[in-house]
Parts: sequence; structure tokens; C-alpha cells
Amino acid sequence: MYRSHTCGELRSSHIGETVKIAGWVQTIRDKGNIIWIDMRDRYGIVQIVAEKGVVTDEVIAQLKDLGREFVVQIAGEVIERYQKNPELPTGDIEIKATEVVLLNASLVPPFTIEDQTDGGEELRMKYRYLDLRRNPVQDKLKLRHKVSLETRKYLDTVDFMEVETPYLIKSTPEGARDFVVPSRMNPGQFYALPQSPQTFKQLLMVSGYDRYYQIVKCFRDEDLRADRQPEFTQIDCEMAFVEQEDVLNTFEGLIKHLFKTCRNHEFTEDFPRMTYAEAMERYGSDKPDIRFGMEFVNLNAVAQNKGFGVFDDAELVLGITVKGAAEYTRKQLDALINWVKRPQIGAKGMIYSKCNEDGTFKSSVDKFFDQAALAEWAKVAQAEKGDLILVLSGDTDTVRSQMNELRLHMGTEQGLRDPNVFAPLWVLDFPLLEWDEESQRYHAMHHPFTSPKKEDFDLIDTDPGKVRANAYDLAMNGVELGGGSIRIHDKKLQGRMFELLGFTDEEAKEQFGFLMNAFEYGAPPHGGLAFGFDRLVATMGGSDSIRDYIAFPKNNNGRDVMINSPSPLANEQLTELYLDTLPVEK
Ligand code: AMO
Repeated sequence: MYRSHTCGELRSSHIGETVKIAGWVQTIRDKGNIIWIDMRDRYGIVQIVAEKGVVTDEVIAQLKDLGREFVVQIAGEVIERYQKNPELPTGDIEIKATEVVLLNASLVPPFTIEDQTDGGEELRMKYRYLDLRRNPVQDKLKLRHKVSLETRKYLDTVDFMEVETPYLIKSTPEGARDFVVPSRMNPGQFYALPQSPQTFKQLLMVSGYDRYYQIVKCFRDEDLRADRQPEFTQIDCEMAFVEQEDVLNTFEGLIKHLFKTCRNHEFTEDFPRMTYAEAMERYGSDKPDIRFGMEFVNLNAVAQNKGFGVFDDAELVLGITVKGAAEYTRKQLDALINWVKRPQIGAKGMIYSKCNEDGTFKSSVDKFFDQAALAEWAKVAQAEKGDLILVLSGDTDTVRSQMNELRLHMGTEQGLRDPNVFAPLWVLDFPLLEWDEESQRYHAMHHPFTSPKKEDFDLIDTDPGKVRANAYDLAMNGVELGGGSIRIHDKKLQGRMFELLGFTDEEAKEQFGFLMNAFEYGAPPHGGLAFGFDRLVATMGGSDSIRDYIAFPKNNNGRDVMINSPSPLANEQLTELYLDTLPVEK
């Protein structure tokens, strides 16, 4: 028996018991006559004490030989601590060591295994197995475990069945690039790793598994950001014989259950809903952060035709009101202007108007707008004394997207994005298609299996860009947590959709023939959605970065710096796979 108890479970009720624990040495305090050691395992920390004259010299000598992160087994008696530590669950007791067994030594770790470590990100990723010993990282993985467990519990109670789908498949149409895997047995041919199990879950509906889910890995070769990894996890779901309302209700129930059981957070109201068009108009984003207001105001009526060319030439003059920010100094405002001019945002400039406490206004365009004109701005923007109005202008889509960034930035600067406040929002009625300038054709905004709204059927032939889809996303705190749609289950409509997307009959057959064939054998009406599991857990944990919630994540270049992957293949392996590599241009 390696241990009778874990390091986290001993309390004063154990005083007098002889126990055995095993774990890692966190810290050693050697005062000559007396040695204290903090021992750590997954469950907590417990203090070991050994005093000369009280325990044998051998035990003292063994303890003196230990170093940080050594793996040790210690037996001893639980005693009351002289100086109690109320910060620690085991802080009332300590273990008087009577026997020490060194299970394994350790090199000095390259960073401290403490809550606040001295190790930088790259170093911690290289030694991720040591980083994973730290409490803050463990807590995140514990939350992840709990969320997956509660997801399974909830979905089981409402009749969902988990079915695994293959990873070695054919390209799926989710819009990113595929990761591909060469097939040795089929020379010159490749599998693709799934971007999602989309087509398989639809096939399962045809097979009659009317409530499917899977906590599943997905793979997308796309540029990485804080909320994107090349391999990530989805809670992927599909239901048959449902309409949009059924899907929304079922998964709103799941999210409420998860927050209640894993975060002790109760959503008492229904999640608010907003159309895509409204979200773009009010927030310039299809995943607005509605923890705070600062909604867009259209200033065209009060800002145009006053002789200021920049506004006059613009399609849209857009403002936001930042409450209580009139005290921003010239320096702070210049910093903001530089911020919006960065290439990532790309604005040409930013105009402001301060609503001073004395009722006057101070703007950066005083030359064109007198006090009465600026009072009009304030009225339209619902700005009061002490507020600051920020204005951007340009063509509608660009200015909305720039203002979205500025609004989020101001929300952060003003401390309005509290990670312990959760603001869910269903965004509905996404456009079915988006026009791609580069390829001069329509792309499916969600994916090609998404059904158009019935009332927009007529537009399919006349004005496809205007057709809305039965597609929905769940946004929370500015993050797209998940999305899905009601699918097309009619072969003819699916064929028309492929045509709109520029597939020839042959291409559609080649890529999706199996699905079209399946639709010939009684496909039920169906729909579903998928949550980004990493994003959901990170949002619940109050973080923007999903990397912290993944045990072994990749860095921004898609590299695992610990195992050093990707890496070249040996020539024999390439030959076996009938592959050759092109020289890499530096
Ligand atoms: P979608 O492509 O919107 O839909 O993906 C669903 C959710 O997965 C998460 N997500 C990601 N998370 C981390 N890293 C990534 N690279 C990444 N890409 C996506 C997001 C997103 O909302 N098959 C459809 C779902 C359906 O229609 O049922 C699909 O995959 O949180």
C-alpha cells in the first residue's frame, strides 16, 4: 500500500492516527534541529515535521537529502499543529514523520511549481507535464472534466445517445482547410480529418438515432488565435423531428444545467434572442458582448452635410457613448486614435466629442461642428454631461467591424467585461450565403446543408444574398460558444443549394453523393448544433484563452513544443507512403 490517505484530506479528526502519504516535495524548510516539508499531490498539500530527538537521526538525514519535486512516501502520526494555517484545508495538523521512502529523485524544475510561477509561457509549454502540476492549471482541467461529465448526464436524461464517428474520413465542408492523412494501402490517396462530424450525424438521423451527441475532436487547419486551436473539441448534437425552437430549448437547458452544476450560477431568465441583422446594426458583431451597453448610434442625420468631407463621403457615421469618460486626457485620446489606426483595426482616424460637466462640448472637429451641432450629436447618442462620444465613419461593413473592436476595447478599458458575469445571447436568422469577392461566388455562411427560411424561398432564384437561414449561434460574453441549423432533408432543395454554391452535378455527387443517396431512403426532418467545448469551459472559467483549458495545447504556430511536432518524416516513411516533399522556400 503506497498510501493510506491523500495529501489533501487530513484534518484534526485524524489526530493520533498513523498514516502513510505519497506525493511530491513542494518546499523544504530546514532549521537545523527541525525540518518542515510541504508534500503535494492532486488533492492538496500537507505539512510534514521532523524534530531532532523526537524522530530518529535516520529520518532527519533522509529528509535533509530531499529536493524539490522528489517523489516520496512518508509514514507518521497526525499531530496538532503548533502554528495553524487557516489558508490551508489541512492547516490544523501536520504529520510527524517516522518513516521516509524515496520513490524517485527529480532534477531541479525549470520553473517553480507554485500558483504564481516564474516560468514564461513557452517554457511552461515545453515542460507542460510540470506546468500541469500547478493548482491553477489543475483547477481548469477539473472544471473541464466536470463540464464533460455533466454534459453526458444531462443529455442522457433527455434521451441523447453518444455515438462515435470516424476520424479518417473525406473532406468536410466547414470552410477551413483540412488536415490530411496519406493512406499507405491506397497509394496516392488521402483521408481528411473531420472539421466536424456534420455529415455523419445527419446520416445517423436517416438511420433513426433521433437524438445523437458526441464529445468529439475536430481538426481545422486555420490561423490560430486565443480562442482557436487546430484540434479542438465539440459537444456535437443532432436531433430528428424538430424545429428550431426545439433545438434552442433543449440546448438552452443544457447550458443552464452546466452553469448550475459546475459554476453554481443560475440563469433564471430565458436567454435573450436577437436576429443577425439586429446584432450587426447594434454591435457590429454576430457574437456581441452584451454585458455592457455602449450600443452603436447612427449619426448620419446630425453629422453629414456640415462641410466635413470625411463624414460627408462616408456611407455610415457611427458613434458610441462611453459613460463618464469625458475626463479622458488628450494623451489618452491620442492613444485611442493610434489604437484604431493599427493595421489590425485599420481605421483612418477617430473623431471624439467630450460632453463637459459645464454643459459645453469639446470635439476634435470643432472647426466644422459648433456647440449646437455637437449638442445634436449628444442628443442622438444619448450622451450626458461627463460622457465621451467616439465616432468612426466609412462604408457600412468596415465601420461596423472597426467600431465593434473599439467598443470591446472601451468595454475592457472601462472594466465593464467582468468575467464572473455571464451574458448569453441567441443570434438567429443568419444569412444563408455570403458573397466571396475573390472566387466571385457564394459560399455557405454556415455549411451547405443549412436550410433556407421558408418565407425566403422565393428569393433563392431572384436575390440569393438576401435569403436568411434557419441557422443560430449561441454567443456569450463576446464569444461564439456554438452554432447550428435546421438542415435540408430534401434531395431536390439540397441539389439546388449545391448549384448556388457553384458545384457542378459531378462535383456534388463526388463529394456528397453518399448523403444525397441517403436522402433517397427516408430522411426525417432534422437539425442540431455544436458547442465549442474548449470555449465553453474557458468562458465558464472566466478566461479568453482556450489553451489553458487543454491539457496539451499547441502554440500560435500550431506547434506542440513539448513533443516537437510537426516534424519531418524519415525518407523510408515517405517512400512507404508514396510521398515526396517539395523544398521549403525560406
Ligand atoms: P461551427 O463550425 O460553427 O459548426 O463550430 C461549432 C463551434 O465549434 C467551436 N470552434 C472552435 N473552437 C476552437 N478552435 C477552433 N478552431 C474552432 N472552430 C470552431 C466554436 C463554434 O461555435 N457542424 C457545425 C455545427 C452544426 O451545424 O451542427 C459546426 O461545426 O465554438
